[in-house]
Amino acid sequence: MLSNASIASIAVTVPGGSYEVLVGPRLLDAFGERLAERFGAPGKRAFLVYDAGLPDEHVVAASRSLAHAGFMVSSASVQPTETAKTLGTAARILVDLAETRHERGEPVVALGGGVTCDLAGYVAAVYRRGVPVVHCPTTLLAMVDASVGGKTGVNLLTPAGLEKNMVGVFWQPAMVVADVQALLTLSERDFRAGLAECVKHGMIGGEADAEGPLDPGLLDWIEANAERILEREPATLAELVARNVALKARVVGADEREDAPAGLSRMLLNLGHTFAHAIETIPAASPSPKPEDAPLRHGEAVALGLLAACAASEALGLAQPSLRQRVEALLRRLGLPTQVYGLPAPAGVADRMRSDKKVSAGRLRIVAPREGSRAGVVALGDDRAAIAGLEAIGAP
Ligand SMILES: NC(=O)c1ccc[n+]([C@@H]2O[C@H](COP(=O)([O-])OP(=O)(O)OC[C@H]3O[C@@H](n4cnc5c(N)ncnc54)[C@H](O)[C@@H]3O)[C@@H](O)[C@H]2O)c1
Repeated sequence: MLSNASIASIAVTVPGGSYEVLVGPRLLDAFGERLAERFGAPGKRAFLVYDAGLPDEHVVAASRSLAHAGFMVSSASVQPTETAKTLGTAARILVDLAETRHERGEPVVALGGGVTCDLAGYVAAVYRRGVPVVHCPTTLLAMVDASVGGKTGVNLLTPAGLEKNMVGVFWQPAMVVADVQALLTLSERDFRAGLAECVKHGMIGGEADAEGPLDPGLLDWIEANAERILEREPATLAELVARNVALKARVVGADEREDAPAGLSRMLLNLGHTFAHAIETIPAASPSPKPEDAPLRHGEAVALGLLAACAASEALGLAQPSLRQRVEALLRRLGLPTQVYGLPAPAGVADRMRSDKKVSAGRLRIVAPREGSRAGVVALGDDRAAIAGLEAIGAP
């Protein structure tokens, strides 16, 4: 039984389907019951798509929980790498799914990090024109970001290189189950990488929807609780995840498909990401002078992207150097990189940024952070601000 006392439930309300995000400890042991109520097991299939790098205990807990609730469980594993997040892997899972005679109305359950959630979500969206997906994120990054909001997709390998998330659809999950206990087995590097998305949320917490500011104190709270967060103190983790999910839920609720003509824009969640997507696909780019630390984790690239965005914002006259200093000090405390090694010349990287999906009429668009946890979307007339951003993070 899930005890409601220690579980936070956050509602995501969007035209594409409203759902709840459950956040708490040991949810994987008992979430099958919630799904059974929702999907009408016994007698239903559940298809588990799990991360091949996960410790067995999480896969066993999730499969057992589904089976005990009466689901007929089948599964497929995925390698949690950007080069495996492809149409080829999606096609393999689709064939597996079809072989189980999985029907409409039966859930695909994603168990793993952002790579697994993106892939499983995409498969669920296109199989029989759409079956429900339930996300069980097991990395911090997937809990606070990838599992909420309905963006699914795969990378495209083109002659120019790997183009991130170039193929995908919006497909909102039926439910999200964030078991914070799973974060205890995450490697130090992957845990810290997820904190970059939390800092990003903190940097836009002063933005507002019709109800008021999103969470203007989030960045202060992360700064004040950095040590407890790094120690992975369970109650602190639960609060961290719940606050970040609540913030993302409000942004997505205001602009589900990143096309709202006015008001709070989902584009803000792209803060740092135009830089991040360009540098994380450079195989030699490393967060340290050691080439063996390459490639960058997505979250590490986001941390660097946040700093580059601060520097670009300064170059545009929209932010003071004090903002970059504050963000840099926090990223350092959280053990995230503030410089990237092995980067090609900035002009070449700025050119790579142009393959980003957010480019409009060939012009780069970046999210420029400002003081007071505010930000705005800026279409760049030329590459100078982007180059200033890249120069700020490139190790000499
Ligand atoms: N859809 C979205 O809105 C969205 C948002 C942000 C990021 N993303 C995507 O998410 C991906 C990055 O996700 P990620 O950082 O979670 O990386 P990931 O999925 O590659 O997982 C990172 C590593 O953690 C391991 N792991 C996962 N859970 C674990 C656990 N509990 N214990 C031990 N090891 C565990 C995995 O095996 C893997 O080695 C990128 O592809 C990015 O594009 C999507």
